Amino acid sequence: MINFKNIIAEEISKITNIEINEISKFIEVPKESENGDYAFPCFKLAKTLKKSPNLIADDLKLNINIPENIIEKIEVVGGYLNFFINKETLATEILSEVTKTENYGKSNIGEGKNIVIDYSSPNIAKTFHIGHLRTTVIGAALYNIYKYLGYNVTGINHIGDYGTQFGKLIEGYKRWGSEYNLDENPIEKLTEIYVRISNLCKEDENVLEECRNNFKKLEDGDKECVELWTKFKDLSLKEFQKVYDILGIKFDSWNGEAFYTDKMQEVIDLLQKSGKLIESQGARIIDLEEYGMAPCLIQKSNGSSTYATRDLAAILYRARTYDYDKALYVTSYEQTLHFKQVFQVAKLLGLDKKYTDGLEHISYGMVLLETGKMSTRDGNVVKLEDLLNEAIERAKEIINEKNPKLKNKDEIAKKVGVGAVVFNDLSNSRVKDEIFNWDRILSFQGETGPYLQYTYVRTKSIIEKAGGLPSFENIDKKYLLEDSANKILKILYNFEKTLIQVTEKNEPCILSRYLIDLAKAYSNFYNENQIITEDKKIQNTRIFLTYATGNVLKIGAKLLGMEMPDRM
Ligand code: ARG
Repeated sequence: MINFKNIIAEEISKITNIEINEISKFIEVPKESENGDYAFPCFKLAKTLKKSPNLIADDLKLNINIPENIIEKIEVVGGYLNFFINKETLATEILSEVTKTENYGKSNIGEGKNIVIDYSSPNIAKTFHIGHLRTTVIGAALYNIYKYLGYNVTGINHIGDYGTQFGKLIEGYKRWGSEYNLDENPIEKLTEIYVRISNLCKEDENVLEECRNNFKKLEDGDKECVELWTKFKDLSLKEFQKVYDILGIKFDSWNGEAFYTDKMQEVIDLLQKSGKLIESQGARIIDLEEYGMAPCLIQKSNGSSTYATRDLAAILYRARTYDYDKALYVTSYEQTLHFKQVFQVAKLLGLDKKYTDGLEHISYGMVLLETGKMSTRDGNVVKLEDLLNEAIERAKEIINEKNPKLKNKDEIAKKVGVGAVVFNDLSNSRVKDEIFNWDRILSFQGETGPYLQYTYVRTKSIIEKAGGLPSFENIDKKYLLEDSANKILKILYNFEKTLIQVTEKNEPCILSRYLIDLAKAYSNFYNENQIITEDKKIQNTRIFLTYATGNVLKIGAKLLGMEMPDRM
């Protein structure tokens, strides 16, 4: 597609003899459309060129030589040069691109770059709860978007399958396993066993000792312990899979924490070698006071490893296995300190700087019920599977009310319900806490998933009403020059740029907002213009724009992890 900004930058660079990248950095997109599509602030060059901004502007305007079918007008306003893209060229460009392919905006700018994304990562034998929703959904969206831009992406589910709690669980199961039927609701049953054995441990030191022994045995590969642990893990993964199936999410690697059992000694050796590993009350730590942080615990006083050590081993492994350019960790902001510590300590492992520079914690705020925080501790947990199923149920109720004769209601209710939850999660800046409100997220109005789906379905039904998509030759771009159509075209033009911005900030909400803007611009166009009309040239042209809009809504939604229904 024509890169208007580049053409402008090139021309100014030629005239001023200033590097194109330098010029490009200064070019802005004006907030008000009467100030053009791009603006160049001439005062930025006043010092270098030793001329007043107004003089520079006049001079540039006189000498800039860009064909009118690219830039149709240049205006000088208050030291700025304002550029107006040729509307007809824009229309031709967009419509021929958007309609040609389902891969609109796809690119290869990421070619040759490796991205590792660590996301979802629930803990086995524990409820996969709504707290894990955001990491799952944000991680998956980033995964899709990086991939679409040509990066080589590896999605890792760093399952929490390690830790002393498994020693307890094994002990509990050995004692009372036969009392529980793990075929139904295995995670709830395991939680019950866990609570029961924990209580017993509080009463009886000997039991606690047994639990510790079990964990040690598990680490040493004891047959019975490993078998039980494997059973808990398999049961849990089967439960988690139900959620991934509903969301349509896949991972490239399921290497969880236990995978690093035999890879932690190397970390300890390397840290030892760095001379920074110190003894503290029987434990081994890395002091991080000079960075204003609490020390990073590497080995507990009883010799067992820590969450941080496993993450360090994972960094070594990922650097070697995936040769990553960026390694992203999507977790809530509660783990900010953990990752700061781990990333700091990782610098002592002797890795190439590329790898330590590439580490990035993608943190996000909490999902809160209107009644307060949802955590496993206060008993107020909402199972993710239940939440998604409830969303689907509620969507079905709404459909039954609004469109009772709709075919394939179940399938559509699934797309709408799940889409509503996913979009809601991605629609705000990720650092913000999110208050979960059913009515708001399922509303067909406002900035919601169902609103996007509704707009998409509208585009589909209008095209159908018009008898399908006309051929490109039967449209006339002059009907796309008015404001409401031009606005849509400009948004469509920015699709790829938007995806790139998502990866620069690792912030999927940039795409969510973009899609809302597009849907709103289309609704506006739809309200202002009759699409099905007497004049077939006009109709064809408007149908074409409608198609282009629907296509990008669908591609964008898919990248976020949402499916579009064909009707609703
Ligand atoms: N299992 C952890 C939790 O549920 C998240 C793991 C995140 N990834 C990592 N490499 N530490 O909080």
